[in-house]
Amino acid sequence: MKGVIFNILEEMVIDKCGMMAWNDILDKLGQDGVYTAGKSYPDDKLFALVGEVSARLELPAEAVVGAFGEFLFDQLARRYPVFLETQATLKDFLKSIDSVIHVEVRKLYESPDLPTISYREPEANTLVMEYRSPRQLCLLAEGLIRGAASRYKESIEMTHPVCTHQGADHCDLIIKFNGPAS
Ligand code: HEM
Repeated sequence: MKGVIFNILEEMVIDKCGMMAWNDILDKLGQDGVYTAGKSYPDDKLFALVGEVSARLELPAEAVVGAFGEFLFDQLARRYPVFLETQATLKDFLKSIDSVIHVEVRKLYESPDLPTISYREPEANTLVMEYRSPRQLCLLAEGLIRGAASRYKESIEMTHPVCTHQGADHCDLIIKFNGPAS
């Protein structure tokens, strides 16, 4: 994972739990806390940080990853507002991740670790995002999608009936668009 992802996790922990908690977590894991945005670090380092945050907050790691996805979306949107400006609806935005946004990410960062996302539209108000990644961060993807929905002020229902954590070869994230959020 790129250092920028670690930087944003640090921001979230400091925001929610304070600087002391972040320093304690780094001490406990023996990490120095210096992550250069464009440099890649082992995924295990990120997973260890998430594990420690989940122990401190007494929340399952899955909940921490999901909440981090929402926070991450907000921070990425702030850093790269141009990607949101070009898409008028949440559905168009989500459809642009694989072919536009992550393509731009490949130009900005050297060899980023990105998922492959393909799409199906069984109905006009439904989008199926087929997520594939050796990192199996489908819950991060769910959080990012929830973050995008709140940025676009749209109400969605999301289900995840097919999942690599249950032995499938990909995840299906099914998003139903319910119009403007009330
Ligand atoms: C709903 C919107 C998005 C979804 C579902 C999504 C999905 C993901 C996921 C799941 C990962 C983790 C890696 C993996 O699973 O293999 C990832 C990584 C990443 N994404 Fe996205 N993404 C979204 C929007 C964005 C936006 C707006 C940006 C802005 C530039 C962005 C930039 C990145 C970067 C920099 C990484 C890390 C690459 C690395 O660590 O090497 N993504 N994305």
